[in-house]
Order: sequence, then structure tokens, then C-alpha cells
Amino acid sequence: MTESIPFIDLQAQRKRLGASLDKAIATAVAGGQWILGPQVFELEEKLARFAGVKHAIACANGTDALLLILRAWNVGPGDAVFVPAFTFAATAEVVALAGATPVFVDVLPDTYNIDPASLQAAIATVRREGLLEPQAVIAVDLFGQPADYPKLMAVVESAKLHLLCDSAQAFGATLAGRSTVSYGHAAATSFFPAKPLGCYGDGGACFTSDDELAATLRSLRMHGQGMQSYEHERIGLNSRLDTIQAAILIEKLSIFPDEVVARQAIATRYSRGMSQIPGIRTPEVIPGARSVWAQYTLRVADRARLQSGLKDLGIPGRVYYPAPLPHQPAYRSYPSAPIPVSTALCNEVLSLPMHPYLSDSDQQRVIEAVLQTVR
Ligand SMILES: Cc1ncc(COP(=O)(O)O)c(C=O)c1O
Repeated sequence: MTESIPFIDLQAQRKRLGASLDKAIATAVAGGQWILGPQVFELEEKLARFAGVKHAIACANGTDALLLILRAWNVGPGDAVFVPAFTFAATAEVVALAGATPVFVDVLPDTYNIDPASLQAAIATVRREGLLEPQAVIAVDLFGQPADYPKLMAVVESAKLHLLCDSAQAFGATLAGRSTVSYGHAAATSFFPAKPLGCYGDGGACFTSDDELAATLRSLRMHGQGMQSYEHERIGLNSRLDTIQAAILIEKLSIFPDEVVARQAIATRYSRGMSQIPGIRTPEVIPGARSVWAQYTLRVADRARLQSGLKDLGIPGRVYYPAPLPHQPAYRSYPSAPIPVSTALCNEVLSLPMHPYLSDSDQQRVIEAVLQTVR
């Protein structure tokens, strides 16, 4: 029987960090400040510096990071928030949790990110209908690659909306040399273990260079706390980062730039090896963008055949995502623009093994298995 390649190998990174990681965890435990301890503030400074933004506000997970920002902007009932139809559920979920209405728009066929033209048309439709007040757009850096922020900013500025970057999958990605989390009016990321920068549990962060927004987010993550303990200025959440997770992330951040380079080398090799295969469409990155390749995702017409052929050869292929959000039971009642591209992608996408420790020989095995299965 052929031995399988893991889809993602988090233990390889743990081995590399070894004693320094174990020591950081032990120090966090011995320190006794297990929630929002000193390592959390050290991490926030390091994340902000890494991303070139003024403030990073750590919180319990990426979903809360998005929700905290919507709440800070007072997005609520009667408001429309435009979100891509092809993304993870959390992007739309937070809009509904804030009491507002997610309005789905289509994505682009080459980058899988939000389509500025579909967005513009959806904003015009909502304005014409007059039932909801357009307030914000959430752009997703899907699979690790930046959305087209210059085009999106032009749409958002002319419509006078907030732009929130859902960079849950893309911390470390850049566009024109700038971190994705520095675009828009605020950004959110996730430190879920499988993310490019992940911790050993749940974690997330908000990013902004606006001092007032940062102060509001810090209050909101602590039950809306005011200047004094047990003084509550607003309705908030319990959404703080554990000190152990911060200690782990500090260690991981020290090797992260190196891992991003490794991910890029793998993606480049995959694309060179597979872009000429008839019937396979390799992912495209917009000019000036650097993806962190949270996923390496192909488009293929006969996905079932490719997926089962790869499985026989010990190569796992996963489908992110099998259905556009407005086709899911929880989101069917919300408004949606026409989404032909999102629908087609859900039938055609297949993500291949991707992590910075994928060996040369395993990369070659993946490429050859795709070639062999498709021919
Ligand atoms: C695009 C996107 N947004 C938001 C989230 C939510 O992050 P978390 O799982 O940390 O809550 C995820 C997580 O998978 C995601 O992929």
C-alpha cells in the first residue's frame, strides 16, 4: 500500500521549535497570568510591527475579531454588510451575529476573491431597494492571497462604506509590499492551528492604525470595560487571548518569515509542474501580491475523478468549499447577487497538501500524481 502524505504537518514545525517552544509554554504557565498576561501584550507589539500597523488587539479567535470590529462600528439591525459568497461561514456569520444582514456578492474566477464589479452592482441594488442601509464590506484574502484592495477601496470610498479585511487565512500576505491587515479601515486574522500562523488552540487578532478604534476594541474584548474594573461602557464580549497561546505565537512568529518563503517555493513548484496540464487551472495571484498559500487550490472540471485518483496514490485533496454560502440552509434567506463564479468554484476546486515542511520528494509525488490521474 502507498503511504499517504499528510495534508498539513503541524508536528514538523513543533519539532523544529523544540525546546524553545516548551520553555515558552512552561514560563507562561509558571507566570500565573493565564489570560491577557504579559506575553499577550508582547505578541500584540510584535504582530503590529510585523504587519506595519499601529495596533494589534489579540482576542479569542478570528470570528470574534471580525465581530468585535463590526460592533465597534455599531453595525446592527437594518444595516447591509457585503460579503463574498465563496468563503468560510464565519465571514457572513458575524454579520448576522451583529444583527445586520449579510448581502452576498460573487468572486473572481482566477483569484477566488471578491469581485469589485459584483460588489458595486450589489451596493447599487441595495440602495435602490431602500430596505437596508449599506454600511460595510468584508473582503476575504481567500486561501492566503490578497484581495484587490486598490479596486475595492475605490468602490468602498465612493459608496462611503467601511472596509473590513478578513485576513483569517492570510496573515503574512502582502500587496505592493504592505501587509493585507494594513488595508481597509480594520482587519482581522485567525490563529486557528491550521492557519499559516496558528497557535495550539483558538486565537485571533484585530488590526487598525486608528487609536480610537483600537481603544474601543480593547474595551469590547473585555465585556465593554471602561477605565475602571467593573465599569462597563458598552455591551462587549468575553474574547481574550490565553497567555499560553501568545507565548506559542511569539515563538512561531520568529520563524514565520522563513516559513512564508518555503510556502512560496512549494506553490511556485506546484504551478510550474501543473500549469501546463490540460483541464487543470492553477491558482493565480494578482500583480504585486505575495500569497501565504494557506491552501494551494486547483480548478478542475472532473474533480471527483482527480480526488479519487489522488487518494489511491496516497495524496489527500480537500474541498474548500463544497457550497456557496447563500446555498447553505443557514444563509438561504439573506439577499444575494447572482453568483455563477462562486457556484462553479464549489464544483471545481480541490486543495492539495501544503505546509512549509513538505519535502521535495513529496512535492514531486503530488505533481506526478496529478499528472498521472488527469492523463
Ligand atoms: C475566511 C475566514 N474567516 C474567519 C475565520 C474564523 O476564524 P476562527 O476559526 O479563528 O474563528 C476563518 C477560519 O477558518 C476563515 O477561514
